[in-house]
Amino acid sequence: MSSAVEPFAAVEIIAAKRDRHELSEAQINWIVDAYTRGVVADEQMSALLMAILLNGMGAREISQWTNAMINSGERMNWSMLDRKTVDKHSTGGVGDKITLPLAPLVAACGGAVPQLSGRGLGHTGGTLDKLEAIPGWRASLSNEEMLKVLQETGAVICAAGAGLAPADKKLYALRDVTATVEAIPLIASSIMSKKIAEGTSALVLDVKTGSGAFMSDPKKAAELARTMVALGKAAGVKTRALVTAMDIPLGLTAGNALEVRESVEVLAGGGPADVVELTILLAREMLDAAGIAGKDPAVALKDGSAMDHWRRMISAQGGDPDAPLPVARENQIIKAERSGVVHTMDALKVGISAWRLGAGRSKQGEKVQAGAGIEIHAKPGDTVQAGAPLFTLHTDEGARFERAIAALDGAVTIGDSSSISKMPLVLERISE
Ligand code: URA
Repeated sequence: MSSAVEPFAAVEIIAAKRDRHELSEAQINWIVDAYTRGVVADEQMSALLMAILLNGMGAREISQWTNAMINSGERMNWSMLDRKTVDKHSTGGVGDKITLPLAPLVAACGGAVPQLSGRGLGHTGGTLDKLEAIPGWRASLSNEEMLKVLQETGAVICAAGAGLAPADKKLYALRDVTATVEAIPLIASSIMSKKIAEGTSALVLDVKTGSGAFMSDPKKAAELARTMVALGKAAGVKTRALVTAMDIPLGLTAGNALEVRESVEVLAGGGPADVVELTILLAREMLDAAGIAGKDPAVALKDGSAMDHWRRMISAQGGDPDAPLPVARENQIIKAERSGVVHTMDALKVGISAWRLGAGRSKQGEKVQAGAGIEIHAKPGDTVQAGAPLFTLHTDEGARFERAIAALDGAVTIGDSSSISKMPLVLERISE
């Protein structure tokens, strides 16, 4: 511990939040900085995080907490580009591969997409894990390499370097083990500090809600969306948000290589209707937020230009867009027990099953299986016959099937009536 005179004592700041007082800007700046420097101990920050979770933060405090996290590291700058920058962030869900077709699509329509992405933890997948299923593709780029890929291809998807919002890296790891991930001020500031530090000038947030999302309650998802849009606006980033459905999986695949394959189908002008619809919707929002009057995204998916940008983006990061994707060594088919109409499909159960097959990790640093995951053969609204395949499960390790199949218990209901209830794809749109 440093013996330099510090302007505050952590215990006083913890007590202030415990007693429901607002923290001052100076207190916030100091505690975030002092924690990043190692002056404030983990147990003190844990207590403060729990007090924030229980007692909340006002809009001013959230904005200043976000700024303090941005100021803990570098802020990237893309002003040398001759295109406007625009990015998308999704809060994550089951089968959410939208970033893969979306980034090259927006590039094909005239935008520059500098996307710093993460890896999956738990039942939701991570964009980097998905792209790493492509032989040769590299997630770690220096800032110079990132700029080169962006200049040459219009889109780059890579891992955030250690210099970007280091306070968030430390705080997120602590939140993970202290049951304080779920606080809206902490989630909003965590996501937005990284997106603002990334230097994008416009941002579209896809806030998922439903069983497979980490904000399952639509009201809470909308509150998170509003909080993040306000933070973006305060930082001068043109930000808007869509609250979208994650009650059922997105598309027909969950798992790394399986989702790359589905994304390539979308880029080739095909693919499942929900993935295509959300990709086009988000692309239009991104272009509009950035003020780009370029090609219509629906056209760019059909005329091959989005696919050209994908191939260039993958190749520029060492990947071979023509290489066969990894296939898991073993598979097992789960069949419909009765004939009828598929009424429900629980995204969370499908996500947990794909995770147990090896598509996701249960602790940081664990390796994932590129070929593991689930193919979905029927979605809510589809008619199935008894004995017809519902899912194909893929894994390299057959011993994983038992627990993966157990996770699917009750995941699907099949009934006689053709009227089904599912969330609309977009529940709410929030703009500045
Ligand atoms: N994703 C983040 O980056 N931060 C959070 O707090 C939650 C999800």
